[in-house]
Amino acid sequence: MKLVKTEDGSFTIFSEVAGEHYHTVSGAIEEAFEKHVNALGIENGMHILDFCFGLGYNSIAACKDHTKLQIFGLESDINIIEAMKDIEIPEILKTEFAPFRNIAESLDVTDNNSNRIQILLGDALQTIDELPDGIFDRVFFDPFSPKKQPKMWSEIIFQKIYNKMKKGAKLSTYSCAGQVRKNMISAGFKVMDGPVVGRRSPATIGVTL
Ligand SMILES: C[S@@+](CC[C@H](N)C(=O)[O-])C[C@H]1O[C@@H](n2cnc3c(N)ncnc32)[C@H](O)[C@@H]1O
Repeated sequence: MKLVKTEDGSFTIFSEVAGEHYHTVSGAIEEAFEKHVNALGIENGMHILDFCFGLGYNSIAACKDHTKLQIFGLESDINIIEAMKDIEIPEILKTEFAPFRNIAESLDVTDNNSNRIQILLGDALQTIDELPDGIFDRVFFDPFSPKKQPKMWSEIIFQKIYNKMKKGAKLSTYSCAGQVRKNMISAGFKVMDGPVVGRRSPATIGVTL
């Protein structure tokens, strides 16, 4: 794993296997707040699905200033979750990150604000089926790119995710690729532009009807 410092001072990792960074190099933690947490809006007590948990930045950014979140993270690589133990975190998320640093040990941690993160370790294409239907208010959808992981961005996976969400629930993702949006629409989502952060094109937000 190669650690890379991004422009907001937070670290990302370069995956040799995917040939991609885990986050935008313009700012990993900025991306978590701007493309996911602030773009969707989080309320106390929400159920959140973090599809491709990685270092947990999206989930832990959601925990900032919130209580009683129920978060499920899907992740296949225990090494990346173990990397949370030692990674340097900038001031903006330091306090919130601390209780979850050792989450690789139990895969289930609750912080002092009753925010709970449970990780389902394994291939998200399969572990998604273990979750109950119709419970999620928010989904952070964050696999490697559609070019690298086309199955993750398929209509069938978006349909599975849709079924896990409540009506009027929201999903965020960094991609605005035409085929991705088409697959989301075929799965039932209403699709709109998300914020423009770190590149010229907008992110994407999907809303269940
Ligand atoms: C772009 S990174 C996500 C970054 C993450 N959201 C974060 O804040 O650190 C993609 C993540 O998907 C994970 N991944 C790749 N294939 C997977 C699969 N089939 N099932 C679950 N996770 C997978 C990788 O290990 C990596 O952690």
